[in-house]
Amino acid sequence: MLNKISEILNEISAYSTQKHDELESFRLKYLSKKGIISELFEDFRNIPPLEKREIGQKLNILKEKALEKYNSLKSDLPETAPISDSSDLSKPSFPFPTGSRHPISIVRKEIIEIFNRIGFVVSEGPEIEDDNHVFTKLNFAPEHPARDMQDTFYVSRISAEDSSPEDILLRTHTSSVQVRVMEGQKPPIRTISPGRVFRNEAISARAHCIFHQVEGLYIDTNVSFADLKQTLLYFAREMFGKDTEIRLRPSYFPFTEPSAEMDVSCRICGGKGCNVCKYTGWLEILGCGMVHPNVLEACNIDSKEYTGFAFGMGIERLTMLKYRVNDLRLYFENDLRFLEQFRTSF
Ligand code: DAH
Repeated sequence: MLNKISEILNEISAYSTQKHDELESFRLKYLSKKGIISELFEDFRNIPPLEKREIGQKLNILKEKALEKYNSLKSDLPETAPISDSSDLSKPSFPFPTGSRHPISIVRKEIIEIFNRIGFVVSEGPEIEDDNHVFTKLNFAPEHPARDMQDTFYVSRISAEDSSPEDILLRTHTSSVQVRVMEGQKPPIRTISPGRVFRNEAISARAHCIFHQVEGLYIDTNVSFADLKQTLLYFAREMFGKDTEIRLRPSYFPFTEPSAEMDVSCRICGGKGCNVCKYTGWLEILGCGMVHPNVLEACNIDSKEYTGFAFGMGIERLTMLKYRVNDLRLYFENDLRFLEQFRTSF
C-alpha cells in the first residue's frame, strides 16, 4: 500500500495540463467518488491495526496533494467564454437605432436621380480652387465684385490689390466644375456637379458661409434655349409635381448669354399667393442660360461648332421649399431633434 501511495504521489506531482478537458479527466481519475484515492480509502479498512496510523497519514497527504494540484492547475487554465445558462437565443434583440439621412443629402440624391434619367452623369471638382476655374475662364471681368475679399475666402493671394488667375480660394460656386469638365472632355457633354461652396457671408437664418449647389451643363451641336427650357420644365415637374409651372426671367451671369432665372409655381398655395412665395405665386429656384462663347473658347471648345446650356441651383433653397425649413443654420448644427425628422427608405 505504501508503495502504491508514493507511486501515485509521484504521478500527481509530475502531472501538468492547460486544457479544461484534461484537467477534468484528472479530477475523475484521482478525486471523484470512484477515483483511485477513494478506492485506496476503501482498501484502508482492511489494513491491520498496527499499520493503520502510518498508512492513514500518508493517504491523507496524498488526498491533500491531489486536491492542491487540481486547484492550482485550475486557476492557471486559460479563460474561456462562459456559457451562461440564462442566455436565450430566441429573445428579441435590443432596439437598434438606425441613423437618418441629412435633408441636404436626400434632396441632392433626388436631383441627381432626376437628371440621371435623362442622361446627365455626375462629375465633381475640388473645393479648393484657383481663380482661373472659379472666375477667369467663366468670363468674369478682372474687377468683378464677386472676386472681392468680402465675398470670397482666399487661401493664398498673389497680390493684395489685383486678382490673378493663380490665386487660390474656396470655390464660391460649382460652375468651376463646368470648366474642369470642358477642359478634360470633348462634346457631347451632359453632366451635373453637386458640391459644397463657400462665401464670406455673415451667418444668419437666410445666409451661410457654406452651402451646396448643383451645377448642370449640356454641350453639343445645335443645343438651343428651347432645350434648356424643356429640360428645366421636366426637372421642375419631377421635383415638385406634375402640375408645376415654370417661368424664366431675364437675368445676368458673366458665363451665360442670354441668362435667366427660373421660378416655379408656388407649391404651397398653388400659385394663389401666400407668405412663402411673398404673395407672388412664384418661387425662384435657379439661374441658367446659354454657355457664353468666351467660356467655350477658354476651355478649347469651338464655339462655332458647339453650343450649350448651363444651370445652377442651391440645394438648401430647394430643401427649404420641400420641407419648409426656414433657417439655414439648422442644416449645419447637427441637432438630432432636427435630423431625426428626415426618415427615408434609402
Ligand atoms: N453660379 C451661379 C451662382 O452661384 C449659378 C448659376 C447661374 C449657374 C447660371 C449656372 C448658370 O450654370 O447658367 O449663383
